[in-house]
Amino acid sequence: MKNSIFVFLKQTHMENSVSGFSKFTKAEKIDWLIANHFQNNPKAKADLERYWNTDEVLQKLHDEFTENTISNFYLPFGVAPNFLINDKMYVIPMTIEESSVVAAASNAAKFWMERGGFKAEVLSTTKVGQVHFMFHGAFSELEALFKTIKPQLFEETKAITKNMEARGGGILDIALMDKTEKLSGYYQLHTTFETKDAMGANFINSCLEQIATTFKSCSKDIQVVMSILSNYVPDCLVRAEVSCKVDALATNTYTGQEFADTFLQAVRIAEIEPYRAVTHNKGIMNGVDSVVLATGNDFRAVEAGVHAYAARSGSYSSLTHASIEDGAFKFWIELPLALGTVGGLTGLHPLVKTALELLGKPSAKELMEIVAVAGLAQNFAALKSLTTTGIQQGHMKMHLLNILNQFEANATEKIHLIEHFKTHTVTHSAVVEAIENLRA
Ligand code: HMG
Repeated sequence: MKNSIFVFLKQTHMENSVSGFSKFTKAEKIDWLIANHFQNNPKAKADLERYWNTDEVLQKLHDEFTENTISNFYLPFGVAPNFLINDKMYVIPMTIEESSVVAAASNAAKFWMERGGFKAEVLSTTKVGQVHFMFHGAFSELEALFKTIKPQLFEETKAITKNMEARGGGILDIALMDKTEKLSGYYQLHTTFETKDAMGANFINSCLEQIATTFKSCSKDIQVVMSILSNYVPDCLVRAEVSCKVDALATNTYTGQEFADTFLQAVRIAEIEPYRAVTHNKGIMNGVDSVVLATGNDFRAVEAGVHAYAARSGSYSSLTHASIEDGAFKFWIELPLALGTVGGLTGLHPLVKTALELLGKPSAKELMEIVAVAGLAQNFAALKSLTTTGIQQGHMKMHLLNILNQFEANATEKIHLIEHFKTHTVTHSAVVEAIENLRA
């Protein structure tokens, strides 16, 4: 009995499996999905096809970015104007679905434009990759071997590093790291790189695989486990800052001192309380990710590296900091960011090209500064709201259209309800009630 249940379950699972799916044409993939997962519902197929681009060349380009592509998934491409960064004006492109993020960035940009703007500076640009390997002999023997072979490790990557070196980058150093205290027999070739305007992932990984090949060919006792870049880049660091006289922070309701004191407390709480720090940093990543995405960079790599950096002390903490000294308010961020303005999607995706053009075709360093500023601006706007009106007032004001769309409000209803909520607080239930009243 038990066995027959097992066989039945196994068969049910197998029914949904498919072999050779990757070799199907796009049409065959969709047909298989619709038949097996949508009960042959024609609407499901129509929804996938609705998002195809009528420009076949553009559609093919998108199909080929990744694998098993069956449709496109749109995200809004917005812009936040009035960013004064290092005395230069920018309109920042932001790719994000969440309401109030672009408005908040724009709001903060305008606020700081009138107070001297943002200052940003790249502190370092070193990237990291590691060959992870096992060795169970004497460490002195390994050290001696490494010393002898190190020039050869550089030499045999020359074919890969030649072009990067011509641009002023390349492998900076290769160091032997003893990690046996944490894992018996575990060592690394910890390798540092300068990749100039490229994010450098493929370059770094190719170098590492060559280094690993050369290294293991020198001793049968070396077992290479893997060779891969690290997305933790604490030495690829950018800092952005705003500052002004405390008095210049005054609002209609608060004096400058009151605003600055409460703001500072909010930052301190995020510095010492991980539950708050995670949300605080999530708000920062609203700004960071949306610019990283719009400029065709790898937001998963950035996310992983930034959060590791936020936890570098052993306790997850705020990425931003603030001070009040001698009547001056200062608010700053330090972020590890491995970004590229050449290679990858940057030369392929038409809207990424538009985004980079909008930013004046920045170098990777300039893009690091812009992204850090977007994160700082976002955090400023969020904390300003949180410590004064509360977040819901502004956020829900921006979210109103989403709720109206959810209830399929027509154009006339939208005009009426937007007008109504200029003088009423937006909450989900208040909007539902207003729609019902209007329709009644
Ligand atoms: P407001 O003062 O009511 O805006 O702020 P306003 O209508 O007076 O307009 C002032 C300026 O704001 C505008 O200037 C724009 O720059 C911008 P103008 O263009 O008129 O010269 N702005 C807009 N930009 C584009 N589209 C709009 C728009 N409206 C205003 N529709 C605002 C309203 C939402 C900006 C403000 O309340 C705010 O900044 N709120 C913070 C919102 C926020 O942080 N959202 C992020 C999502 S919430 C979250 O995920 C993070 C969080 O949990 C993080 C954390 O806890 O730290 C909060």
